[in-house]
Amino acid sequence: MSEPPIERVLFTAEQIDARIAEVAAEISERYAGRELKLIGVLKGSIFFLTALARQLTVPVKIDLLAISSFGSKHGSRGVVRIEKDLDEGIEGEHVLLVEDIIDTGFTARYLLQTLASRGPETLAICTLLDRTSRRIVQIPVDFRCFEIPDRFVVGFGLDYKQLYRNLGYIATLNVEKG
Ligand code: PRP
Repeated sequence: MSEPPIERVLFTAEQIDARIAEVAAEISERYAGRELKLIGVLKGSIFFLTALARQLTVPVKIDLLAISSFGSKHGSRGVVRIEKDLDEGIEGEHVLLVEDIIDTGFTARYLLQTLASRGPETLAICTLLDRTSRRIVQIPVDFRCFEIPDRFVVGFGLDYKQLYRNLGYIATLNVEKG
């Protein structure tokens, strides 16, 4: 396969690892003495989820869900639907929703509302990347690794046509915005 059409590396693998370690330390402190359930959103967040989980010092459980979204990438309605639900309930648990990127905020808002309705003891959200310049709905972001400019990015879970998720770094791409 040809090389990815990288425009500029925003964060190297070393920078990402170092920042995840910092955020993991924050999270470990916040949840000290508790058990934490990490909820990942397929597919993009799994790279961040596993990297983060390995750095946490509190006991961790993991569950995954898959969603489909309509319109959120094009500034219209931002309708989100769960395609694969969690394997287990979250009632009474300390839940941390783990995302690779928050753009418009539609996905995060929907997931936070849905998870909140299931009675967790606490609920928070952690994202690898935050592109606040694209925000349409305001949501509280509890933990964030990096703010990024309004550019199309790939790597560390983020794709272009399902490619480049496995890059260890995060880079902007020389393509039309997805
Ligand atoms: C990304 C990300 C969030 C959503 C954020 O998923 O993982 O779920 O977009 O966008 P929003 O803030 O505008 O709602 P994507 O649709 O790219 O799916 P993927 O993780 O399978 O690549």
